[in-house]
Formats: sequence, structure tokens, C-alpha cells
Amino acid sequence: MKFQDTHDNPFGSSTTTPKHMISKVTLLAILVILILAITPLWYPLLSYHSSSLLKIKQKLKHTPPSSSHDDNSNLPSTYVERCDIFTGEWVPNPKAPYYTNNTCWAIHEHQNCMKYGRPDSEFMKWRWKPRDCDLPIFNPFQFLEIVKGKSMAFVGDSVGRNQMQSMICLLSRVEWPIDVSYGSDEYFKRWKYPSYNFTMATFWTPHLVRSKVGDPNGPSNTGLFNLYLDEYDEKWTTQIQEFDYIIVDGGHWFYRPMVFYERKRIVGCHFCLLENVPDLTMFYGYRKAFRTAFKAINGLEEFKGTVFLRTFAPSHFENGVWNKGGNCVRTKPFRSSEAQLEGTNLELYMIQLEEFKKAEKEGRKKGLKFKLLDTTQAMLLRPDGHPSRYGHWPHENVTLYNDCVHWCLPGPIDTWSDFFLQMLKMEGMRSAIS
Ligand SMILES: *[C@@H]1O[C@H](CO)[C@@H](O)[C@H](O)[C@H]1NC(C)=O
Ligand SMILES: *[C@@H]1O[C@H](CO)[C@@H](O)[C@H](O)[C@H]1NC(C)=O
Ligand SMILES: *[C@@H]1O[C@H](CO)[C@@H](O)[C@H](O)[C@H]1NC(C)=O
Repeated sequence: MKFQDTHDNPFGSSTTTPKHMISKVTLLAILVILILAITPLWYPLLSYHSSSLLKIKQKLKHTPPSSSHDDNSNLPSTYVERCDIFTGEWVPNPKAPYYTNNTCWAIHEHQNCMKYGRPDSEFMKWRWKPRDCDLPIFNPFQFLEIVKGKSMAFVGDSVGRNQMQSMICLLSRVEWPIDVSYGSDEYFKRWKYPSYNFTMATFWTPHLVRSKVGDPNGPSNTGLFNLYLDEYDEKWTTQIQEFDYIIVDGGHWFYRPMVFYERKRIVGCHFCLLENVPDLTMFYGYRKAFRTAFKAINGLEEFKGTVFLRTFAPSHFENGVWNKGGNCVRTKPFRSSEAQLEGTNLELYMIQLEEFKKAEKEGRKKGLKFKLLDTTQAMLLRPDGHPSRYGHWPHENVTLYNDCVHWCLPGPIDTWSDFFLQMLKMEGMRSAIS
């Protein structure tokens, strides 16, 4: 099985390596972890190794609470907060799914896999089991009680929209939202739950910073984008002040060719193949984009909400890149021992954690809360959850013919609501105890 990872793949690279091929790497990793354990001073020098990933995650967990009345130090040690809900395995759940393509109208065409003839349905029947505790299945009644009178914004790309549509379907057992969008732009929607006075909105910003198409074709015929890495994308930064929760995401668009601008001048690019423009890699742009997005949020005068970074969800193209025959045809999740975060996926994830941590520290000075909706590991294990060729009719001419980026609905992305509700509940417990 050959997994591809090339620079001109605009929709993400492969994610996994078969276990037998990486045993040496694993051994090496164990060695490094051992060395790290006895020489903690080395840690800053090894910022990208997966063992430092563990350390960063631990550090994040032990970050002091954002304000004194949040202090949870007097909670019993069995308190559920001690459990890392994002480390675990997928286990069978015969009760799923909790809606179908016939009961929920909010499913995006290209994620309506059953409509387009996906033959298997086992991919819907799993739930996430954290290693050290249980993660309850999303309870829409409980969720709406918690978010009564509040508002939530999804800021990012189409995977963020995918998450919102999953949530609308899960909530449909209680209530359907009404469309209260300000305009007719499908990329900027607002939904309101009348009985709960709860508003949900999406803001389209695939690069998080201001960007525009520089050349519709570009070196790989997937468009060349100009990214203004130090400029806010005002389409969202001017709109989110009033929101209680913001869920930020971004990733797959950074695989495409980009030209980077700072202070209005070209500083470099990612695979632009322009003369005299240095290739700074996608990672350069990715880091700066998150830094600028968080800076925008932390700079808002009126904003009093909680910011969730929904971490990168890897794609699963195998046997080729997205436009060269790559596909995702598996029908079962991986066990955690069968796949590991590496290469580009690991790098993107690390950049997110690092920029998140800086932003969290900055936000704390202003009393803002930053939370990690850390979906990366769970989604790495779901090569079976994508539309593949069942996102459209076979004869249809669509850019992403085999979609191994988005997630079928119903499907594994429904679990993000399980995570999110659990995070809100833990937050509620903390403020109730204080
Ligand atoms: C739902 O999927 C079924 C196949 O399982 C299909 O026949 C039907 O047309 C779909 N309905 C909608 C509304 O997409
Ligand atoms: C609904 O919630 C908003 C905040 O999201 C609040 O400003 C408004 O007063 C609420 N309306 C009612 C009728 O409770
Ligand atoms: C598909 O669409 C692209 C651009 O829209 C076009 O160049 C191509 O010829 C089309 N292919 C087919 C088989 O229709």
C-alpha cells in the first residue's frame, strides 16, 4: 500500500503508514522518549518530534485556568477533567446513527453518501471511547439547555461547515433552526433555534487571513492564492464580537499553491514556481495565518466568548494524490496501533498546538478562554468516513471526484458534537463548583 504525500496536493496528504513498515521508526521514537525523559532540558530543541507532541499536550492540560474563579484544584482527582477525551479508540455502536439522509435536510449534497449509492453503512456505527473514561453520545436536549440564549460561530473552511451541518442534524430531534442569514451568500449562514434563542453561524475563511485568487490556474491547475498573512479577513473578524463560542478550523486549503504577502509585499510562497520568490513551504503560511487569526480575536474589544481550535482532520487518499487516482475505499476504522500521525499532518497539528498555546496565554491576560477541540487523532483513525466517490453521481464532473477530505453524514464527524458537549459540560461543572 503506497501512501502519497506531495507538495502539489491541494486537499491533504496521506495520513498513515502500515505498522510493519514503521517498526524501526517506532523503536527510534521510544528511544527518543526515553532520552527525553532523562534529559528534559533537551525538549526545546526537539520541537517537532512526536514525543514533544505528547509533552506539549501535557503542558496544555496543566496550563493554569484562565482566571482565579475557574480554579479546579479543589476537585476530586477522579474528576472527569483528568481524562483526556481525545485519546482513545473507536468502538462499535449498534445504536448509531441518530438521523438519516431522509430525516435531515441539512446534509450537504457532496456529503450525502447514501443518496449517491454508498453500499456499506458500517462506517456510521462507531463511537469514540476515550482510554480513561467514557464519552457520552451527544444529547441534543441537554446541549440546547446549555446553550440557551447563546451564540456560536464556525470560522473556517468546508470541514467546519460539515461539522455545523452534522450538528443541525443531531439537534433535529429537538428542533429545526430557522434561516436568519443576513444575505443570500451560502458561505455566510445564520441559523436560529427559536425555542432556545440559540444562534449558529458559519463564516467562510479557508485561509483565516485575507486572501484572494491570484491566478485561477497556477502551477498545478488548482489555483494560485495570494495570502496577506498579516491582514485580518474582515469578513469574519468584524462579525464575531457578539458570539459566545467560536470554533476555528483550517488546513486543507494550505496544500494549494500560495503567494505570501506581509506588509503588502511578497515575502515568499508555497509551490508558486515564480522566479525570485523563495519557497517558504505551506507551514510558514499556516503558522502565520493562525497567528494572525488569533491576534484578531484577542484584539477584539467587546469579545467575551470562548475560542475553540478544532484541530486538523487529516485526509485519507491512498494509492495516489487527490487528482491522480487517489481514493479512500476502506470500510473500517483503524485501531490506534495501526496508524500514526506523521509527516505533513503532524507538522500542521504541531503548528496549531504551538500557535494555540501562545494565543491562549495572550487571551488569558484579557480573561478570554481558549480550548482545544482536539479531533486530529480520532479522525486520523477514520479512513472509512469520507464520501470517496459517493459525493455525487458517477457521471458528474466535479473537481474533487474522490472526496477523502470531508465526512459523510451521518458519519464520524457527528462525534465532534460528543466532544463539544462534553467540553461545555466540564466548563459548566467548573463554574458551578467555584
Ligand atoms: C437517502 O438515501 C437513499 C438511499 O439509502 C436514497 O434512495 C434517497 O433518495 C436519499 N434521500 C435523500 C433525501 O437524499
Ligand atoms: C436572545 O439571545 C441574545 C444573545 O444571543 C440576547 O441578546 C437576547 O436578548 C435574547 N433574546 C431573548 C428574547 O431572550
Ligand atoms: C470537466 O470540467 C472541466 C472544467 O470545468 C473541463 O475542463 C473538462 O473537460 C470536463 N470533463 C468532462 C469529462 O466533462
